[in-house]
Amino acid sequence: MLKKLFWTAAFSAFPLLMFAFSGGPPIRRTGAPADGGTDCTACHRTFAPANSDSRGFVRISAVSYTPGKKQLIRVQVFHPDAKRWGFELTSRLTSDENLKAGTFTPSATVQVKCDPAGTAPCGNDREFAQHLEPATRIGADGMSTFTVEWTPPATASGDVVFYAAGNAADGGGSNANDKIYTTSLKVSPAAALVKPTVSNDSGVSLQGFGGGKNIAAGSWIEIFGVGLTNVTREWAAFDFTGANAPKSLEGVSVTVGGKDAFIRYVSPGQVNAQVPDGIGTGPVMVVVTNEAGASAGIPMTAVARAPGVLAPANFKVNGRQLAVALFSDNTTFVGRAGEIAGVTSRPAKAGENITLYLVGAGATNPVVAAGTIASGTPTLTNATVRFGDAPATVTYAGLAPGAVGLYQFNVTVPNVAAGDVKLTISIDGVAVTQELSTVVGN
Ligand code: HEC
Repeated sequence: MLKKLFWTAAFSAFPLLMFAFSGGPPIRRTGAPADGGTDCTACHRTFAPANSDSRGFVRISAVSYTPGKKQLIRVQVFHPDAKRWGFELTSRLTSDENLKAGTFTPSATVQVKCDPAGTAPCGNDREFAQHLEPATRIGADGMSTFTVEWTPPATASGDVVFYAAGNAADGGGSNANDKIYTTSLKVSPAAALVKPTVSNDSGVSLQGFGGGKNIAAGSWIEIFGVGLTNVTREWAAFDFTGANAPKSLEGVSVTVGGKDAFIRYVSPGQVNAQVPDGIGTGPVMVVVTNEAGASAGIPMTAVARAPGVLAPANFKVNGRQLAVALFSDNTTFVGRAGEIAGVTSRPAKAGENITLYLVGAGATNPVVAAGTIASGTPTLTNATVRFGDAPATVTYAGLAPGAVGLYQFNVTVPNVAAGDVKLTISIDGVAVTQELSTVVGN
């Protein structure tokens, strides 16, 4: 009698454990109201209800959909203490949330289950995308991003809503001590895409860095226009492959002299791209392409170095353009006290160290390929900075580690008379063409 009870209990627990772990979680646990609003806390109860630990989150990223056009949905789960990760995602029509909206594609990391039963393809049945066990990344801490390919409905079907649950688990192999998060995201059908139209003032190096039609490998261009894309977003960590930046974002790409540029930001009216290597020197065309076609070419001129110093419009005060120069406290800028709206500023004193930021300064030693996150200290040779006529000691001139295509100059302020002084900067004999000032005090 006792023995039989024992076996009954063990038998009923066994499939549950196996199912949750190897087979993935049960369906209908995203918190979607149409599914009864239940989520993973049905079993992962330690910190129930979902979202009760405010140090973590689950986030869905998706963009306006074009009927039938696949896109990658990201489900990002974050918690500083978690050591293992899981998720479940479903998509519904907002007109009737009992109805599926589009289909998910299974992959090496994602399985797709149908409601009430079976696995994809699910026909008209509702779908749940979930982690596969190897994708739970046991031991990996901080954050996990699951990528799910989604094919929207074949015809425009109004707004679509995604529901996701994420498990920021402790990696203990049980359903205890795991933090569950839920979220939802609504996306609308995208307006029909047209070919991008670029405007004449586009192609200018990132405007905060002085503008100009000269570009160098690794420098930044801003392209203005209309109908460039339907989507607004900046690149994110998941767009990178290792240290390599993406060559397209949301179907938008840019070529410079026929070579693929790296895409940092896309929006209907503006695209920011980093100029690729191998464009030679002389006239080049910059072309933006979206899924409806290619723009007209924007004529630009490729040169070896086209240095531009960070000096945006809000640093143009009291009749001169100040360069952005940051003290080593990382919060105070060089300028007269209070003259730059929104930031703390004071004059720089002789002997103090300040940092200037540039783009387009050209090749470093060692060379860092365009479109890669710089590491180490890739240095510019022959970089000079003058305050008026006085040369400054440049303690570092090179790419800023951890950034793409951003240079920083660490400079010791020379002994010059107090007041506004002209800043003159050059790299290997190529001068910065902006008229720039800074302020020296006593
Ligand atoms: C029916 C109960 C049940 C539900 C609902 C459930 N789980 Fe689980 N889950 C378990 C059990 C039990 C385990 C322990 C491992 C095993 O035996 O499968 C587990 C383990 C896990 C683990 C590994 C935990 C660790 O610390 O190692 C992850 C990740 C996970 N579940 C994700 C989810 C997600 C995401 C959901 C919601 C979409 C969910 N689970 C819903 C029962 C459940």
